[in-house]
Amino acid sequence: MKSVYIRGNASLYGEVTIQGSKNAALPIMAAALLVPGMCVLRNCPCITDVEYMCRILTSIGCRIERRGREIRIDAGALTDSRLPEKYVTRMRSSVMLMGPLLGRIGEVSLSHPGGCVIGDRPIDLHIKALSRMGAACRDEGDRLSAVSCGLRGTLVRLDYPSVGATENVIMAAVAADGVTCLENCAQEPEIGWLCDFLTACGASITKKGPGRLLICGQKKLHPCAYTIPADRIVAGTYLCACLAAGGEALLRGAPEGENEALEQTALRMGAGLKRSKDALWIKRTGTLLTPGRVETGSYPAFPTDLQSPLLVAMAQAEGESSMKETVFNGRFGVVEELNRMGAGIEVKKNTARVPGARRLKGKHVRAAELRGGAALVIAGLCADGETIVENRFYVDRGYEDICRDLRLLGACVQDG
Ligand code: UD1
Repeated sequence: MKSVYIRGNASLYGEVTIQGSKNAALPIMAAALLVPGMCVLRNCPCITDVEYMCRILTSIGCRIERRGREIRIDAGALTDSRLPEKYVTRMRSSVMLMGPLLGRIGEVSLSHPGGCVIGDRPIDLHIKALSRMGAACRDEGDRLSAVSCGLRGTLVRLDYPSVGATENVIMAAVAADGVTCLENCAQEPEIGWLCDFLTACGASITKKGPGRLLICGQKKLHPCAYTIPADRIVAGTYLCACLAAGGEALLRGAPEGENEALEQTALRMGAGLKRSKDALWIKRTGTLLTPGRVETGSYPAFPTDLQSPLLVAMAQAEGESSMKETVFNGRFGVVEELNRMGAGIEVKKNTARVPGARRLKGKHVRAAELRGGAALVIAGLCADGETIVENRFYVDRGYEDICRDLRLLGACVQDG
């Protein structure tokens, strides 16, 4: 299926269950490389990035069994440290295989990782941290290789709390000799899930205050069964959809306490929110108010992954809003397509000014990356007439089936 067809201008009413988290599943699948024996991961989302990760792991000698959302990974007999270019260039998260492969077999070689087109995505912080732990990293132009004859625990202070670099260091440190003190690390919930998984496998990881972890390496690891938690970004996307299009939605399994910045923004915009033990209910039937200024940042600040979906809601609000993007420098790419639909957004440097109160018009638009693609689908829900979002494969990298989910929320959406 290449496109999403949306008949717009209708409120959402319904309920949907939130899928497992992409950003938790991918590093945990990578971490399974550290464990000799069969790990069982439940509730893995059925998305392209998870499929690519399975293929990469299989190509280096892991035995993978997949039944629906359950993936069994046995990394007992790794045979290769060279990651296949075909998948690595499509998925940036493949860089997080560096730490566990260095830890497990002392070498890794990969082409420069790809991923969504959302600005500069260097991996200098990964290289700097792994080098400090004893890896010799070499950039050979189109390929990157690293070897180590034994990683060692040490003090690693990240210049910026990069999510991927934090995950790489944690996985390397679990295999390293001695204690690693990781400072200024990312605090996204997915870091906690990775540590939970590794701890369940026997690793010793202790949180020592905000952004500081102590990891005692070389503990004997054993396989475990682990359930991937719900995806806060998917839950947030559907919350933005309901904010923008109006209506009432029940998001079953939506994570609690992980979307505070977005939920506070939704309340400022006039939505009603109610939390029960395992669901989040949102109602937005009256006027949508401007949230004023929103700025993305590292967790717990407003997540960059929800910036584009929220822009669509801002375009529907009464009054002007602004969005400052501080994490990725190329993340306003979707604005051009939103403006073709009539959003009237102006971008200057890293800030978008959204005039608000715009009637969007259904158009033929093109996704260029994952979250921007989801934002275009939300714009289609609010627009008059029909919207066709092409390049659906970008959206499928992170959403199991955005059409299925939005239909459950009452939208008129079709695959095509
Ligand atoms: C992860 C998430 C992604 C999310 C992002 C920020 C996964 C699979 N992906 O991506 O959905 O948008 O966190 O919350 O979990 N940087 C450097 N040098 C480095 C590494 C990063 O300069 O070596 C910069 C990046 O260019 C970017 C910023 O740091 O500007 C944040 O990147 P990072 O936190 O590493 O994001 P990812 O781990 O790639």
